[in-house]
Amino acid sequence: MERLQKVLAHDGVASRRQSEKLIMSGRVKVNGTVVTELGTKVGVHDQIMVDGVQVTSETPTYVLLYKPRGVISTANDEKGRKTVVDLVADVSQRIYPVGRLDYDTSGLLLLTNDGELANRLTHPKYEVEKTYVARVKGIPSNDAMRKLRQGITVDGETYAPAKSKVLSHDDKRKTAIIEVIIHEGKNHQVKKMLEAVGYPVEKLKREQYGFLTLKGLNAGEARNLKPEEVKELKRLTGLLS
Ligand code: URA
Repeated sequence: MERLQKVLAHDGVASRRQSEKLIMSGRVKVNGTVVTELGTKVGVHDQIMVDGVQVTSETPTYVLLYKPRGVISTANDEKGRKTVVDLVADVSQRIYPVGRLDYDTSGLLLLTNDGELANRLTHPKYEVEKTYVARVKGIPSNDAMRKLRQGITVDGETYAPAKSKVLSHDDKRKTAIIEVIIHEGKNHQVKKMLEAVGYPVEKLKREQYGFLTLKGLNAGEARNLKPEEVKELKRLTGLLS
């Protein structure tokens, strides 16, 4: 027997924390009865429904997507815009994105139905390094780059030191390409950090997620992670030793 929120997370319904909220808000039924108690234990023969939809344990699936710009990172969009889940429609499992990339940001996004791994990958304790490449307005001064490397506070939000370097600059257009490596995943983090030091982002791409890269993929394409890559992500987040 397992705790209900653990089963929901494991079956890819939502992260552990979000599953707890689902239970507490009365959206989960076990064998036809609404259950709001977090400690409830369930076994393999119990029927679990969330919002009237039966939860099934599915094959763990891990997908690496090269998200193009102009696609939303949530599973559903109330405005009917294209989502990252639409891009992996040929995957029969119900997978959902690990964290988010902005609508106008491209790059590497993982999707999975392994709620436990997704939860750990987005938890501040385990967050892996994410490498972004940004085109910014202006050519950053040494002082600005130093600030990024030291960590900054913007509107009361503190961002940890980010390994940052200028990769190239265009003196005519007055733009620069910079690499920023962060391990947190706060909302619009890279844009906010760069804006705060005086160099607004014109274009943003996530090139790398931990050891994973976009190698071999074009925008809009996806591939399954290799078993060794899944193992490595599990090792990085303490799920395997
Ligand atoms: N930082 C941002 O500002 N946007 C993203 O999409 C990802 C990181």
